Amino acid sequence: MNLIELMSGEYKPLTHKTRTIMVMNSKGGSGKTTLATNLASYYASRKRPVVLADFDPQSSSLAWLAARPGENAPIRGLAAWRDMLWVPQGTDIVVMDVAAGVRNRLLARLLRRAQTIIIPVLPSALDMRAATDFIGELLGIHAQARLAPKIAVVANRVRENTRAFDTLEEFLGGLDLPFLTSLRDSQNYVTAAERGVGIFEMGSASVATDLEQWDPLLKWLRSKRSKAMPI
Ligand SMILES: Nc1ncnc2c1ncn2[C@@H]1O[C@H](COP(=O)(O)OP(=O)(O)OP(=O)(O)O)[C@@H](O)[C@H]1O
Ligand SMILES: [Mg+2]
Repeated sequence: MNLIELMSGEYKPLTHKTRTIMVMNSKGGSGKTTLATNLASYYASRKRPVVLADFDPQSSSLAWLAARPGENAPIRGLAAWRDMLWVPQGTDIVVMDVAAGVRNRLLARLLRRAQTIIIPVLPSALDMRAATDFIGELLGIHAQARLAPKIAVVANRVRENTRAFDTLEEFLGGLDLPFLTSLRDSQNYVTAAERGVGIFEMGSASVATDLEQWDPLLKWLRSKRSKAMPI
């Protein structure tokens, strides 16, 4: 967004009225960008005016957007690590992709930006340990937040019938947060990422299982349970 666009009145500051969903985890490679881009494409494919706000200077979400074919439903990108959080008038939903390694005061600041937080966790001992620390810190800040976002966890890149998956399910199920779903390790996500689309837009039979696995997450996001009340 440049100064002319700002002055044009087309943009407005983000308020609590806009639906805001943030994907975060301090651990790198846990699937934040995968979840954020697929969510954005899901809403876009349902004709909802959506902004994908990339809070990561690595800008993987914006790189995904740059690869997006012109015939797919539009998504507006926002370089949120650099620019003000202003969105086009009429924006319905803002999906936020947060960089790995965010802690302390930056984490507290980000937490005020969204109604809903989704945390993807991978099935590995290292990831679970990191998630324990991260969620602990998040809940500590959360307890003092004025506008406390709703937080949920999602297992990502799981292989069913493995010990690692069982351990992750047990770990996530034991947290004091909703554990919404387990997304399988699938080449579909890799293909979607390369093409600038989401699994919801791939239209092939091979994504049927993936779409099913997203259902509980999308249902939760539609429900009041996932929305922090505006103050
Ligand atoms: N369910 C999945 N199945 C297969 N591959 C996946 C899945 N989820 C993520 N990946 C792949 O794993 C890699 C890391 O995922 P992603 O970039 O979404 O993680 P991230 O948390 O955003 O990483 P970073 O911390 O670097 O921002 C990517 O190559 C992505 O395509
Ligand atoms: Mg990322």
